[in-house]
Amino acid sequence: MKHIYFAPMEGITTITYRSVFRQHFSGVDRYFTPFLVANQNHRFKNREKQEIVPVQGAVVPQVLANRAEDFIWAVQELAKWGYEEVNLNLGCPAATVVTKGKGAGLLSDVKKLDEFFGEVFACSHIPKISIKTRIGMKDAKEVVPLAELFARYPFSEVIIHPRLREDFYANTPNLEAFRIMKEKLSCPICYNGDLCTTEDVQAFSGQFPEVDTIMLGRGLLANPALAREIQGQEPLQREELAAFLQDLQERYQAILSGERDVLFKLKELWFYLGRLFPDQERELREVKRARKLSEYEDAVRRIIN
Ligand SMILES: Cc1cc2nc3c(=O)[nH]c(=O)nc-3n(C[C@H](O)[C@H](O)[C@H](O)COP(=O)(O)O)c2cc1C
Repeated sequence: MKHIYFAPMEGITTITYRSVFRQHFSGVDRYFTPFLVANQNHRFKNREKQEIVPVQGAVVPQVLANRAEDFIWAVQELAKWGYEEVNLNLGCPAATVVTKGKGAGLLSDVKKLDEFFGEVFACSHIPKISIKTRIGMKDAKEVVPLAELFARYPFSEVIIHPRLREDFYANTPNLEAFRIMKEKLSCPICYNGDLCTTEDVQAFSGQFPEVDTIMLGRGLLANPALAREIQGQEPLQREELAAFLQDLQERYQAILSGERDVLFKLKELWFYLGRLFPDQERELREVKRARKLSEYEDAVRRIIN
């Protein structure tokens, strides 16, 4: 695979997670921040500002907006920090987001979306704009007008997660709709969705040998060495997983206010990591039930060793 991206995952792939990940694991070419909200007040929250401090390495900030002028403000703000590309979120399925016409909600009105992009690309000094999109709201047929619309604008890349908003994260990605969108676009494209093992990636590449860029989300949370494995290098070692988790825990302890918050963060990650240890259900339950860090650490030790 030529390029592998780490998917944005709100609350999980924060700057803390990404920087610890990067110290321990290779194979990822670019990281996307969880979405930053561009509202009418034209200010990022403090938590969001932490995401966009000038960072070394390939980080693409992602923005959630429903008005072109707010998106343009965010793009120009991010350009000041040196970001050369900004990604627009056209996929978030959460009701609170969609009802405001943001995320996947933007896909519901092709004409409005056309106006949105018309305004954005009419701006001079705009950096590269990429999008991360679903294939529609309710019906896979929506993919055709959306793809035709995207084809008319000079996106630096279109990242396609071929599910409908209505699917949330259920059902399997619609590869036929992915093919339709891909064939209508002439810009670089990236596939995202349900690539959780090297076998998944091999099967996908068998069907789409011409696609050389993929984005991994939950698969990388479950197996942080997945990108490296896909590139033909060594699989995850128990000791490196333990060292990664130890570092992550220390970083969370340094920035979060109490044991409960640290435990919450680590347990959230184990929701995904648990997949690596299908035979250790009892210990995984202990992780889930842990009320103190010491209980959590004991359970994790038993799982990993
Ligand atoms: C907890 C969680 C948070 C997410 N947050 C974002 C986000 O901020 N921006 C975004 O574009 N996608 C977000 N996504 C979607 C992922 O980036 C990705 O598209 C999705 O998980 C499918 O890829 P995967 O099967 O490789 O995980 C999120 C997904 C999850 C599970």
